Amino acid sequence: MISIFRLKNIISIKDFEREDIEYILNEASKLENIAKSKETCEELKGKILGLMFFEPSTRTKLSFETAIKRLGGDGIGFENSGSSSVSKGESIADTAKMFEGYCDALVIRHELEGVSKFISGIVDVPVINAGDGAGQHPTQTLLDLYTIKNEIGSIDNLKIALIGDLKFGRTVHSLSNALSLFNNVKIYLVSPKELKMPQEILIDLNKTNIEYEEVDNIESIIDDVDVLYVTRIQKERFPDIDDYMKIKGAYVINKKMLEGKDLIVMHPLPRIDEIAGDVDDTKYNKYFTQAANAVPVRMAILKTLIKNNPK
Ligand code: NCD
Repeated sequence: MISIFRLKNIISIKDFEREDIEYILNEASKLENIAKSKETCEELKGKILGLMFFEPSTRTKLSFETAIKRLGGDGIGFENSGSSSVSKGESIADTAKMFEGYCDALVIRHELEGVSKFISGIVDVPVINAGDGAGQHPTQTLLDLYTIKNEIGSIDNLKIALIGDLKFGRTVHSLSNALSLFNNVKIYLVSPKELKMPQEILIDLNKTNIEYEEVDNIESIIDDVDVLYVTRIQKERFPDIDDYMKIKGAYVINKKMLEGKDLIVMHPLPRIDEIAGDVDDTKYNKYFTQAANAVPVRMAILKTLIKNNPK
C-alpha cells in the first residue's frame, strides 16, 4: 500500500492516480469505526475547515462538517452567498483570502466550472472542490468508489450503468474519469439523447482501456450490470425550462424491474422521481449507505490534506 498522498488540493479526479484513490479509500476504512460509532477523535484537534458554498448542498456540506468535527476540529462558512459579503459585491478572491486567514483548508462549491482551481492558485491552504457547475465533484467520486468497493468487493471487473443526466451531472463526469484508472471496467452510458455524456469526457475515456457503450434504455443492460448509478436531471442547469419539462421523468427505477437481479442501486442524491420509493426497503438500495459513507471518506480527505500541509 502506498504510504504517501501526492496532492495538496482536490480539484479534479483527473489529477489522481489509482494509488492516490486507494490511499484515501484505505484511510477511510481505518476511520470508519469512529464515523459509524459516532465518536470523535483528536486527529485534527483545533483545526478549522472553511466551507464556502455558493450553491445549495445538503449532504456534501453536512458530511464535511461532520467529518471535521469527528476528527476533533470545527467548521465555519456560509451556505449561500446571500448571507456573506459576496452579496455586498466582495470578490470571490477576497472572500477566499479572508477564509485562508481563518482556516486550515477550504471546501468550495460554486456554479461556475474552475472556481476552486482558481482559488487554489491564490491561497496557501489546501482547497477541495465540492462541485463546480457541470464540471467535477471529486470527493463524491471517492465516496462512490468506497461504496462500490465495500458492496461489490472490488472496482476492477465492474460493470456499471450511469443513468440520467450525463450532460450536466458532475458526479458522473468525475466517476467516469476515475473508473478508467481501474482494470476491466465496462460503463453503460444510459441517457436521453439530449443529455448524453459530453464529448470531452468520451475523449478522455477513449485515451484509456475502459470499455463504454451509449444506450438509451435500461432494459437492454439491466441483466449485465453490478451497479445502477442513477442521477437526477439537473433542472437548474437547463437554459430553457421547457427542455427540462420534456425530459423530466425519462427514467424511473422501481422495485419490479429489479426483482431477481444481482445488482445494487446507487445515487449521489438528492433524488426527485428517478428511484421509486418502493426500492428503499429492498436489498438493492445502497444510496443511503453511500450517503453515510461520505463521512469516513471526507474524514480521510481532511486528515490527509491538513496533516500533509501544516500552516
Ligand atoms: C450531487 C451534486 O451536487 O452534484 N449531489 C451531491 O453532492 N451528493 C448530485 C445532484 O445535485 O444531483
